[in-house]
Amino acid sequence: MARSEQPPLSAILFLGLLLVYCGLFPAPAYAQNAGFVKSPMSETKLTGDAFELYCEVVGYPTPEIQWWYAEVNRAESFKQQWDGTRKRRVTINTAYGANGVSVLRITRLTLEDSGTYECRASNDPRRNDLRQNPAMTWIRAQATVSVLQKPKITATEEITIKKETSPTPIFLQCNLTTTPNHVEPDSGFWTKNGLELQDTRKTPSDNILELKIAKPKADDSGEYMCVFILKNSPPANATIEVKAVPEISGHKKSENKNEGQEAVMYCKCVGYPPPDWMWYKIIDGGLMEINNATGRFFITNKDNYTELKIINLDINNDPGTYLCNASNTVGSDNSTTILRVRSNLAPLWPFLGIVAEIVILAVVIVVYEKRKRPDEVPDAGPMKSNSTNNHKDKNLRQRNTN
Ligand SMILES: *[C@@H]1O[C@H](CO)[C@@H](O)[C@H](O)[C@H]1NC(C)=O
Ligand SMILES: *[C@@H]1O[C@H](CO)[C@@H](O)[C@H](O)[C@H]1NC(C)=O
Ligand SMILES: *[C@@H]1O[C@H](CO)[C@@H](O)[C@H](O)[C@H]1NC(C)=O
Ligand SMILES: *[C@@H]1O[C@H](CO)[C@@H](O)[C@H](O)[C@H]1NC(C)=O
Ligand SMILES: *[C@@H]1O[C@H](CO)[C@@H](O)[C@H](O)[C@H]1NC(C)=O
Ligand SMILES: *[C@@H]1O[C@H](CO)[C@@H](O)[C@H](O)[C@H]1NC(C)=O
Repeated sequence: MARSEQPPLSAILFLGLLLVYCGLFPAPAYAQNAGFVKSPMSETKLTGDAFELYCEVVGYPTPEIQWWYAEVNRAESFKQQWDGTRKRRVTINTAYGANGVSVLRITRLTLEDSGTYECRASNDPRRNDLRQNPAMTWIRAQATVSVLQKPKITATEEITIKKETSPTPIFLQCNLTTTPNHVEPDSGFWTKNGLELQDTRKTPSDNILELKIAKPKADDSGEYMCVFILKNSPPANATIEVKAVPEISGHKKSENKNEGQEAVMYCKCVGYPPPDWMWYKIIDGGLMEINNATGRFFITNKDNYTELKIINLDINNDPGTYLCNASNTVGSDNSTTILRVRSNLAPLWPFLGIVAEIVILAVVIVVYEKRKRPDEVPDAGPMKSNSTNNHKDKNLRQRNTN
């Protein structure tokens, strides 16, 4: 009896485990409902600006993503959004990989762009079946975008700094015209070339921000911006361009290298807008643009820096005076570098000099000696004829020594 009851027990255990397993994984293991990984975030923007909303979903198969929009207070009348609509101000970029990712971007915002934006995702096979209730087959995530009228800022026209011995101060000014209700500056500050200027943060009086440049130099030129921090609204800003003729602030006076080596010359400058750079070689008092037929010349330009590199220096063609020219809309400046190229033998010259001296000395001695001997032999004849014994002895002795 006991034996016959055992098999049904293990069968029940097995069935139980199977049920638990199926409970954990009710659908076939490869299918997974759509779910949000990232949903769009609400934002407040100013007219003329742009916004981007992100949406990322997981699921298997990868869910389809759509964007929908409803005007303020019309939350029941959503309209689907398409790439290129609203006078091409709408861009939708969607990528389907392991996850589905979509970005909705709207540029040149107007007050009418305010409203509710919705990211919808679904991988339900019945999702486009009109008999289905979309609320059952699609998941949704919403963001509210508020577009506020951008406050008007009247700013100083662009200024050009002149090169003067006693510079007069310049003033940059931004006047904010607040529209009723929503904007009112809390504080303000200035930036130059995108970086906040120290000690300029303050509460604007009469909605005016002012920046004084006491002794303007070319180095003070750049892109300035006044920024008003507003209550209940994104910051508002205006840009003022302060221009100056380029001034070369660094370069090499000369560069000395050996043939076969590489030479590097550079120029850097201050001044705004950033200049266009040119390199020339001065030949017979005239300017020749760098001729790169040999492929040995390399020019690298950055905003306020330029570099001319010559590789594998040629002693016959490369030495000379090189000129860099920086020019922008207000003017130009230049500076020169003298390139000297020495022969590879140059370091040997002092040594070669000594060797040459020794060789010349040796030659002189040998020649002298050689000339002396044949001279003395014919001389000995006449000398013998009217010589004394003494002379004979001398000649004999000399021959003996040889
Ligand atoms: C800003 O306002 C002040 C005072 O009203 C005025 O003197 C100044 O000219 C204005 N500046 C600009 C750039 O409009
Ligand atoms: C200046 O305003 C523009 C347009 O509103 C905005 O995109 C930018 O971030 C602002 N810059 C700063 C520094 O506030
Ligand atoms: C010179 O030629 C080389 C090789 O063709 C090239 O890589 C280099 O950019 C050129 N330099 C200039 C200044 O045109
Ligand atoms: C100009 O050069 C200076 C260094 O000389 C550098 O710090 C600065 O970032 C450069 N500015 C631009 C706009 O490239
Ligand atoms: C530098 O460039 C400016 C503007 O292109 C030009 O007027 C000037 O003559 C140039 N100078 C040299 C040395 O090339
Ligand atoms: C180089 O610049 C100086 C002024 O700094 C100017 O007088 C001169 O004409 C320029 N040289 C050339 C060759 O353009």
